[in-house]
Amino acid sequence: MADPLSSLVPAFREALETAFGPEVASTDPAIRTSTHADYQANVALGLKARLGRPPREIANAIVAHLGGSAIERAEVAGPGFINLVLRSSFLSTEVRSVAMDERVGLAPARQPETVVVDYSGPNLAKEMHVGHLRSTIIGDSLVRVLETLGHRVIRQNHLGDWGTPFGMLIEELRESGRDAVGSSMAALSNFYRAARKHFDDDPAFADRARQRVVLLQGGDPATLALWKELVDATLGHAAILYRKLGVTLRGADVAGESFYNPMLNDVIAELDRKGLIERSDGALCVFPPGFTGRDGARVPLIVEKQDGGHGYATTDLAAIRYRIRTLGAQRILVVVGAPQAQHFAMIFAVAKLAGWLAPPVRAEHVAFGSVLGADGKMFKTRAGEAIRLEDLLDEAVDRARAVVTEKNPELSEDERERVARAVGIGAVKYADLSSDRLKDYVFDYARMLAFDGNTAPYLQYAHARIRSILRRSGTTALEPAAIEIRERPERELALAILRFPTVVDAVATALEPHQLCTYLFELATAFSTFYEKCPVLKAPSDAERTSRLALADTTARVLAKGLELLGIEAPDRM
Ligand code: ARG
Repeated sequence: MADPLSSLVPAFREALETAFGPEVASTDPAIRTSTHADYQANVALGLKARLGRPPREIANAIVAHLGGSAIERAEVAGPGFINLVLRSSFLSTEVRSVAMDERVGLAPARQPETVVVDYSGPNLAKEMHVGHLRSTIIGDSLVRVLETLGHRVIRQNHLGDWGTPFGMLIEELRESGRDAVGSSMAALSNFYRAARKHFDDDPAFADRARQRVVLLQGGDPATLALWKELVDATLGHAAILYRKLGVTLRGADVAGESFYNPMLNDVIAELDRKGLIERSDGALCVFPPGFTGRDGARVPLIVEKQDGGHGYATTDLAAIRYRIRTLGAQRILVVVGAPQAQHFAMIFAVAKLAGWLAPPVRAEHVAFGSVLGADGKMFKTRAGEAIRLEDLLDEAVDRARAVVTEKNPELSEDERERVARAVGIGAVKYADLSSDRLKDYVFDYARMLAFDGNTAPYLQYAHARIRSILRRSGTTALEPAAIEIRERPERELALAILRFPTVVDAVATALEPHQLCTYLFELATAFSTFYEKCPVLKAPSDAERTSRLALADTTARVLAKGLELLGIEAPDRM
């Protein structure tokens, strides 16, 4: 409970109750940070109609009754706001406890939940596109946040590994030999293109490919063995990318579409028993209420096609049932691009109709926008081809290496390489995480690698700079108990440090990593001002030096922890 806001709200409740009676006590004040004071509370204006008195008068009555250990001074401002200044003693105590806490104030969730997070989800024998990159980066950050808060997180990599195109791929693999799959992602996607071309140009091949689908679905061992090779090749490439990205997904987290095959018939049977299935144009469909097309016609979720085949929707229905029933999920997050919004809205609607998805269990589609190139169009190479993710990450690291070398030529070869990786990969991830998830964003190396502005390098540098101050101080033992908040910039920094847990909680609720990014940027900025105005190594007294060193160290730890939650490394030197 580091955030002072949590102490302020009860103080307001009490003041409201004493001034106006219990009916009004539950009116929560809107409290935000302010440039005029530590915080500004807005509550009187909203009570104007209810109490039939001028807001300033209401505010004065509240101020007269505000008590508690946190508030030093409360003043009515403007039309009826209340400016609050906190007691330095209160701030000092709170920051000390954060400084002494290994988790820098992050408290475990009061009700830990089992949360299934479905992210990454690449497709068999296909190169991942930037949409998969976004899913992987955002999903991994959410997983880290939830796990840190004490939730039991089950990662699910919903590999697209089943369906009619695989007949074509398997047949191609059988005919052209396994070398064709190659050992690189590029080779794999060339293989995909070759298969596609073969399929389009050669009707006999197309026939054999269709035959393969039947064999695959019938469980023919030779066909399955070939299929398995494609799965392994795809996962092998994905693993390389995950490693480069520092993503926590492992092989054991894969539960691809094929995983649900044995459950599909039972899912359909259950939906049928519950009277949810209708036959329409020879297919088995569920029509969840509220989904209509432009012409007003109901939109079906097709659970079985005319030919008896099962597709993406059936698999996702089986997945949601499995995640709730077998995995015991209380919360399900599906991190997939915004274009699939309708699909997941329908899956969730059907899961509710079937009685699987019922409170307190909830499912959320964590949607996101597209990555755009500098021209504002879909991100492509100059030649109009899809961007190869490995190349994209390698280029970010190359550019980071150049920047890092220029900034600090003294780094050893080894260290430079490590820092270049941390900065390059961190920059790509941060650019993604710091923009509002639902919005499209422009991929721009120069901007994401800038050392000023809301970027990973800025935060990483802020962190490394503090570490360097601490090294230069020669201090071997910090003294968090000696923290004493005195000057204005120390106060601002303390307030920023104390907000960390509230921000992390908000990210876990709203699933918006950009809130954490904005916060870390503000924290780094507050530190910058503090460092400019309050000398640390040359502090006027030993007491201030000791206090400021511990405050600086706490800031660095919050920065590092915050970056860790985003999946970004914080090197000690840069
Ligand atoms: N493979 C899918 C795609 O590339 C993403 C899978 C998302 N998860 C799911 N349960 N459908 O679009």
